[in-house]
Amino acid sequence: MNRREFLKLAGLGAAGVLGRNPVSGFVARRGQARGNSIRIALRSETTNWPIFPGSPTQVSRYVGEVIQGPASTLQTIPGSYLSPTIRLRKNDYFWCDFTNGQIDPTVVHWHGMNVPESMDGHPRYAISPGSSYEYLFQVINRAGTYWYHPHPDMMTGQQVYSGLAGMMIVSDPEEQALPLPRGDYDVPLLVQDRQINSENQYIFQSNAFLGTLGDIITVNGIPNYEMSAATRVYRFRIVNGSNARIYKLAWSDNTPLWVIGSDGGLLDKPRNKPFIILAPGERVELWTDFSRKTLGSQIKLTSQRLDGLGFGQWGPPPNNGDVRDIMSVHIERAEPETLTLPTTLTKMPRYDIRNAVNANNPRRFQVTFDGQYLFDYRAFNPLEVAENERVQNNTLELWEFSNQTSSQAIVHPIHVHGPQFQIYKRLVASSRKAAWDAVRPGYLDEGLKDIATILPGEKVQLLIKFGPYSGMFVYHCHNLAHEDMGMMRNYLAR
Ligand code: C2O
Ligand code: CU
Ligand code: CU
Repeated sequence: MNRREFLKLAGLGAAGVLGRNPVSGFVARRGQARGNSIRIALRSETTNWPIFPGSPTQVSRYVGEVIQGPASTLQTIPGSYLSPTIRLRKNDYFWCDFTNGQIDPTVVHWHGMNVPESMDGHPRYAISPGSSYEYLFQVINRAGTYWYHPHPDMMTGQQVYSGLAGMMIVSDPEEQALPLPRGDYDVPLLVQDRQINSENQYIFQSNAFLGTLGDIITVNGIPNYEMSAATRVYRFRIVNGSNARIYKLAWSDNTPLWVIGSDGGLLDKPRNKPFIILAPGERVELWTDFSRKTLGSQIKLTSQRLDGLGFGQWGPPPNNGDVRDIMSVHIERAEPETLTLPTTLTKMPRYDIRNAVNANNPRRFQVTFDGQYLFDYRAFNPLEVAENERVQNNTLELWEFSNQTSSQAIVHPIHVHGPQFQIYKRLVASSRKAAWDAVRPGYLDEGLKDIATILPGEKVQLLIKFGPYSGMFVYHCHNLAHEDMGMMRNYLAR
């Protein structure tokens, strides 16, 4: 019996056993920093939704209801099954009564948010169908674009693909004070790829190497996404919610790509990019100026051909890195615009390598392959922490992920739960330099990150300041097929 079969028979680890969490930790912190209490009920469910012409598609989604706090806390997307966008402010106490309304165990992860261990959606806290779990945490993250999705061991890929994903947007006073587009001009875009059969049903096919790829791009759960726009500036918050697809984003008419934010919120200043590499799980915030566009014109957000992703990239379609249209924007309304691109956005000090406790001796993790992709030949075990996976809170550490050793080298978006990190350095094997040079200008390495993509032959070094929460958190590949097959490990923060 292999690990997978064993865990299936064992009822997927601790599902339902660990049960509810006491609210004591939440209440105890209440006096420490002021914030509003926001409470929602959230339920996952499976339903049929009209997406394509003809029969409806079976999808899963989160449905929510605001119990305490402003009604704008939950924003549904008109005409879409996609889960509501959750809008919070920094310091809010977020309380979510979650109910599993599906037929499989599940757990919710608030991707990018730094929350206590039992609130983070660790696979060992998965709950069985019909049961509930209370999530309670204070929002300590900066303003930014985050998202939420399931995280059960071995079933994350299938559940995300079935539709479970939504955006979580945090604001704070500093970001609110900036002259950035608001309201209808602040647009969340969650991008995914899907494949359907002749009955309009999503086909979930998981390839151990490439993961799950589709030829249909959906934005906010809608294929062929069309947006009607004014001659204004827009703030586009793009989440790559795809299981495996990496995008190389650009506007069809070369409208400049001004990046104002990435995974962990605003950059220090806007950066102009020739294109943007957005791997599964990553976010980018764009300042897009349509003020000089002609009425009646149409602009497409596209994904350009992307090479160098590694083993088996080009086979029978759909392939990772092939050309796709993401959405079309129709400039239909003339409106005056007064906003101009700010020259600075926020103070964002870079970590100093000299402050890292292991500056000369990075904690090394190697991507290995022995029939499946793993870190150092070790597969995920919900309760296991190795000797080199223990860290001290309140210290700055240098971590290195290397994608140079596996024989079937392929791209991996590496995600670390807990605090956001900074990218210190990237290195590449000389044989891979050309492919790397073609991709690298589109990386978003300037800001705070929770995902670092590594191409075949590449090494990335991260500076991570651990804390404030102790406990077991995961790091994993965000190609969800790799994650589900065991390319995920715990680290223990003390
Ligand atoms: Cu978005 Cu651990 O994942
Ligand atoms: Cu995450
Ligand atoms: Cu991977």
